[in-house]
Amino acid sequence: VAALLLAISGYRPEPWAGALSILRGACDVRVWPDAGDPADIRYALAWKPPHGLLAGFPKLEAIFSLGAGVDALMRDPTLPAVPVVRYVDPDLTGRMREYVALHVLAHHRRMLDYAAQQHSRLWRELPQPAAREVRVGVMGLGVLGQDACVALAMLGFQVAGWSRTPKKVAGVACFAGAEQLAPFLARTDILVCLLPLTPETEGILNMRLFRLLARDGALPAPVVINAGRGGLQNEADILAALKGGVIGAASLDVFAEEPLPDTSPLWGHPRVILTPHNAAWSSPEACARAVVRQIKAHQNGAPLAHVVDRSLSY
Ligand code: NAP
Ligand code: GLV
Repeated sequence: VAALLLAISGYRPEPWAGALSILRGACDVRVWPDAGDPADIRYALAWKPPHGLLAGFPKLEAIFSLGAGVDALMRDPTLPAVPVVRYVDPDLTGRMREYVALHVLAHHRRMLDYAAQQHSRLWRELPQPAAREVRVGVMGLGVLGQDACVALAMLGFQVAGWSRTPKKVAGVACFAGAEQLAPFLARTDILVCLLPLTPETEGILNMRLFRLLARDGALPAPVVINAGRGGLQNEADILAALKGGVIGAASLDVFAEEPLPDTSPLWGHPRVILTPHNAAWSSPEACARAVVRQIKAHQNGAPLAHVVDRSLSY
């Protein structure tokens, strides 16, 4: 019998196994650690599986990632040489659109300042530019970055995006490659990071980059929003940049170590909005539907969609 192995860490498997019941007929569902005969396993739906686990299934044909980001899978040196498929679905994209719009607007409308004023019962209007006077820059023009750009442009912001290879997105100024990073940053008041974590992008959100952000914006200081991965950011540099006024505020959904340790000064920082890596949660139902679509297409001989380029790690 062909089977799919559900191998997820950090989530209760029950809702996932329940959602995957729509696979019945196409293949069995096994919940790790009860894989049964390893030779039955043709597919895996995985999130941070222990290194080496997936190498134990000789007939594995594809690995589906429970999330859009595959950095944890890519770090497994024994990962079998089968297609790794990212989770891409309008449900996830819509959730990230909500997060990005919420946080860009929160900083644009100076909600941290108003929260502090409310705490002091202070009735005072702060200078408020219109969205059309504020420049947002989105790092990553993939599925999530492009969608976020379009939503931000609809809100009226001046939007630019930065990617590895050149892109064209209507209404968005597109920059690409290392040589266009500085001009992209020089026109950015609110920076949104939706990059994947790869050997190329690790630690990219650092003091050197923060210093390249626009200093002539309509807001009091540049803002950094990271919903990509914690490994993209240097947390000591974020704290130093906040202290030195290099940036004025940050929204962070992801951290180098998750859960964020109790001792991190980010927890209590008055200029940081912190969320527990849930900018875009993977819904078991939506993810299971996407996996089932792909497995059925694969079994009919169609190519898998959203396959990771192993040479690029994303
Ligand atoms: P994607 O479609 O693969 O897009 C990745 C984008 O990053 C592409 O535009 C790519 O450039 C660009 N990029 C990659 N390496 C680069 C480099 N070295 N320099 C410049 N640009 C580079 O990915 P996605 O679906 O949009 O997801 C992006 C990331 O969001 C995921 O990898 C994950 O880490 C994160 N995420 C987080 C959450 C959360 O809840 N916090 C939820 C979902 C996803 P090209 O277009 O030239 O290839
Ligand atoms: C979540 O972090 C994802 O990669 O989808």
